[in-house]
Amino acid sequence: MLHGKKILLGISGSIAAYKTPELVRQFVKAGAEVRVVMSPAAGQFVSPLSLSTVSKHPVVYETATDHQWNNHVELGRWADLMVIAPLSCNTLAKMATGLCDNMLLACYLSATCPVVVAPAMDSDMWMHPTTQYNLSLLQKHGVHRLPVGEGELASGLIGPGRMAEPESIVAWVSQFLHKPNLISPWAGKKVLITAGPTFEPIDPVRFIGNRSTGKMGLALAAVLVERGAVVHVVLGPSSEPIPSGLASLTRVETAADMYEASVPVFPTVDVAILSAAVADYRPAEVASEKIKKTSGGLTQIQLQETRDILQTLGAMKRADQCLVGFALETQQEDEHAQAKLIKKNADFIVLNSLRDAGAGFGTPTNKISIFDRAGTKKEFPLAAKESVAAFILDHILS
Ligand code: CTP
Repeated sequence: MLHGKKILLGISGSIAAYKTPELVRQFVKAGAEVRVVMSPAAGQFVSPLSLSTVSKHPVVYETATDHQWNNHVELGRWADLMVIAPLSCNTLAKMATGLCDNMLLACYLSATCPVVVAPAMDSDMWMHPTTQYNLSLLQKHGVHRLPVGEGELASGLIGPGRMAEPESIVAWVSQFLHKPNLISPWAGKKVLITAGPTFEPIDPVRFIGNRSTGKMGLALAAVLVERGAVVHVVLGPSSEPIPSGLASLTRVETAADMYEASVPVFPTVDVAILSAAVADYRPAEVASEKIKKTSGGLTQIQLQETRDILQTLGAMKRADQCLVGFALETQQEDEHAQAKLIKKNADFIVLNSLRDAGAGFGTPTNKISIFDRAGTKKEFPLAAKESVAAFILDHILS
């Protein structure tokens, strides 16, 4: 699977480094030739002796050994691919800023081959805006990135930040080295997604909501992460599983929360896809105590309009940004979708019709049409929401 391929493995100082002898073993088993370069901190987590034994080559971790200069340029030019796994927060920051105080960084800066990183760190460090910013810089520089896993971390916390498992790294590398042209144009693109319903409280126990589950928006997020995008999700109440590898996840409840969470992010992204089913109205007043049942019915919940996030972003949109809205209709679908596109200054509107079987809220499938500013309508077949996500992303690019 990797016969004749040359892989330079960079190991930085993270507890996940203990998995790297197994990673090297799997690369070698798949037929690759592997050289290892380590940062000084990596040596505290894994022994160079184990790595030189499994790779069958000396491990490089000093700029000079026995008064002989180690040639980082040669290593960077020798490899078909440089894999940095685990990528620690510290090495990430140095790579993002071009620091070069050890052999791993010197090899990275001299590498003429593609580079892929598998980050590993504690979840708080992972979610820190500086970490995400540094990752986005790397992606801008063409570095590919594997998603982090979620689970128990060395700190005892549970969350995102685990290094991709050796099998996933080997699988990614095999695919990449056989089909390098398949690297997605979404790699490094920054994307904001709103997903799910919003709940507008009536009193401490009741709310006005809708049947959206967030499935479609989360499918979009998952496909975008797979394609290497930097994905920020603002999610209303949803019990769907969250894809790993998101740059950020902000959980919100009301339309007002979603507005506050989305609007400041918009200037920092290239594309925003607003798939959330945002409530158009909210109770003008929220009762502080539970409203008690009285005979004669309840006729007095006054509603007021929520702020329209899509329309706000449409008014802020720069020429280099792309804005995608959704429309869920039950009648005169095309007219309504086109009117929304113009009114909210979107570039695309993705239309679902509740008249189509298998489309809409909660279903694993969807059937959509996409309208663009030229007035063109493109229809897509009924498919799983992940495939529909791919249709949408491919169409936006085309
Ligand atoms: N939307 C939004 N903020 C709102 C309401 C809607 O961002 N307060 C976005 C949705 O996320 C979706 C698009 O606007 O991308 C269309 O939402 P929809 O509710 O279908 O459109 P409305 O303009 O509210 O029109 P109507 O409900 O009358 O169909």
